[in-house]
Amino acid sequence: MSTSESALPAQEQARLVEESKRLAAFQAVKDHLLPSYTKIGIGSGSTVVYVVDAIAALGPAITKSMTFYPTGAQSEELIEAAGLNLAYISKLPSGTQLDVAFDGADEVDDDLNLIKGGGACLWQEKIVAAAAKKFVCVADFRKLSPRLGTAWKKGIPIEVLPMAAPRVLDALKQMGSHGARIRPGLPGKAGAIVTDNGMWIIDAPFAPLLLPKDSEKGLHAENESSGVWTVDALADRLIKLPGVAEIGLFYGQSGLEVASGAQKPVAAYF
Ligand code: 5RP
Repeated sequence: MSTSESALPAQEQARLVEESKRLAAFQAVKDHLLPSYTKIGIGSGSTVVYVVDAIAALGPAITKSMTFYPTGAQSEELIEAAGLNLAYISKLPSGTQLDVAFDGADEVDDDLNLIKGGGACLWQEKIVAAAAKKFVCVADFRKLSPRLGTAWKKGIPIEVLPMAAPRVLDALKQMGSHGARIRPGLPGKAGAIVTDNGMWIIDAPFAPLLLPKDSEKGLHAENESSGVWTVDALADRLIKLPGVAEIGLFYGQSGLEVASGAQKPVAAYF
């Protein structure tokens, strides 16, 4: 958020953010949901609510031939509440791909790598994204940054088997993550948050993650415990930790589409 945006009263800032999510979502659906598509992935989070609104607004004449595949309980409810056809990725015949998947993100870097999992749905989100021919990430203006870890400071969400959590935390400390912690339950719920898959989430902050172009500027990851990592090296290391089910780093994307709208909403895709 720029200085001028952050100087706005809180209520106006919140309105601006919601309007940006809505604009980005409607633009993304307009640009990337072709009437010929029959299988569509639907992600999780507050931005995706607008994506489903935009799809429902197309009307049954267009959507009746489409089936929507959720990334968890929230997105399943959204699809059903909008009266859209619901099906599950587990029932998708092998070798069949979704035409497109729409989802939000917590942060998007210059190379369109993403941090996801702020809503604890990252595992199913990654499965649905990987099953799609095209992944459209819908993100408002707050989410773009040069390097992951700049805008989203809560840490990289990591889905873990509960019994492995203490050892994963130890490993993260050795890797230079300061303040990694088990995500608490939602307000009013004691203990850790439990994902749709019965797992816990660890949020692991790292120094902003370097991109290949950073080496030309003389910026390099030093050693493991320095906490300075490139996106790919960190993703590679995290996913191999015993007890880690999935990580909220989505990397290797390309292409960026800027949706129209006064408040710089963006729709990124790979
Ligand atoms: C959930 C996610 C969401 O896509 C991400 O947290 C963005 O959410 P929002 O649209 O509410 O900002 O990854 O696991």
